[in-house]
Amino acid sequence: MEKGTAKRDRTAPSERLEAIPPYMFAELERGIEEKREQGIDVISLGIGDPDTPSFRYIVEAMREAVGDPSTHKYPSNRGRPEFREAFADFYLRRFGVEIDPVNEVIPAIGAKECIYNLCFAFLDPGDVALASDPGYPVYTGGPVLAGAEAQLLPLLPSLGFAPDLDGIPEERLEAARLIFINYPNNPTGAVVPDGFFERAVELAREHQILVVHDNAYSETTYDGYIAPSFLATPGAKEVGVEVFSLSKGFNMTGWRCAAILGNAEAIRTYWRLKTNVDSGLFEAVQLAGAAALRGPRKHVEEMCSIYQRRRDLVVDALRTIGVEVEAPKGTVYVWAPVPRGQTSTSFAALVLDKAAVVVSPGSMYGPSGEGFFRISLTTPDELLSEAVERLRVHLAP
Ligand SMILES: Cc1ncc(COP(=O)(O)O)c(C=O)c1O
Repeated sequence: MEKGTAKRDRTAPSERLEAIPPYMFAELERGIEEKREQGIDVISLGIGDPDTPSFRYIVEAMREAVGDPSTHKYPSNRGRPEFREAFADFYLRRFGVEIDPVNEVIPAIGAKECIYNLCFAFLDPGDVALASDPGYPVYTGGPVLAGAEAQLLPLLPSLGFAPDLDGIPEERLEAARLIFINYPNNPTGAVVPDGFFERAVELAREHQILVVHDNAYSETTYDGYIAPSFLATPGAKEVGVEVFSLSKGFNMTGWRCAAILGNAEAIRTYWRLKTNVDSGLFEAVQLAGAAALRGPRKHVEEMCSIYQRRRDLVVDALRTIGVEVEAPKGTVYVWAPVPRGQTSTSFAALVLDKAAVVVSPGSMYGPSGEGFFRISLTTPDELLSEAVERLRVHLAP
């Protein structure tokens, strides 16, 4: 008998890792692969990853930054002054929010890293993070991996896809140290309902909770809607932080470029954690990120008009096949109810089977996503038109 057989297998994952469901896109990718192996030409509308390149001026800034040897060393987790100042200027210009570039902003290696590490910076076993449901998976996986718990906050269609902050059980509020919110919202496409950020500030004050607003989509909005920063809410900086990602608004998903802004003490704690975990964001990426924020607005606006056109195409097609859907004012997703008699997964399987199109079942984003599916608008026009045509032909009632 091999010594130590009473122990778990050497390659067995930790119990914490076992406790979280497999990463949702991994599941989705397996389904697509199977079809493709059968020779079927599948169009995926599953993943929100911009199909158009990063803007040229950002690539040029990167080219220059990479040629500068001062960027080649280990970065500090505090970030370069150019990065911090570009963020402070952007927040003032874009959101009317004053940010102290010395204490109130540092880089993150993407919003995903930031949210995950915030869990390790602030949560202990027995603590709770309040997490939007449906929501970006790290809001629930992060707390579990940190040995804490996630308390799901159902996003209610009747409240404009906001959680009922007054309905959270008292003992969970007592254990809660973090609340994750996100508007414009993935996956529902909802924009922040009036008064919601203000109520979140109150709740945070009443219960010693740190608000984490995940601002991944403020630059991707439609029909003239301009998304606010959470930090523009009176009192927000006293109780919260905002994670701003350049991934979607600036077509930079691969660059891993984001920042955390707001409460200086909370940012210091996050920085302390990071000094133990990673060695910061490549400084050339920081300089390119700074250039992105200082660049002309027209590129962001062009992207919004591309997505708005695609959104209308998808919404029209869904309506013709009998799906009652509202056109979202933000994000790169259309969130729609599945037809009567279907579940999220049965409908996604039906669409894959009949039309060879991948949509994401809403239940992948949490139990309150059941009864919905999500379509991503980050697919080139011709492919999206083809997918929409397939839906019309194969799924018409
Ligand atoms: C709500 C939300 N937050 C964060 C992210 C990830 O951002 P990043 O690429 O900066 O890690 C995504 C990506 O889909 C998202 O939808």
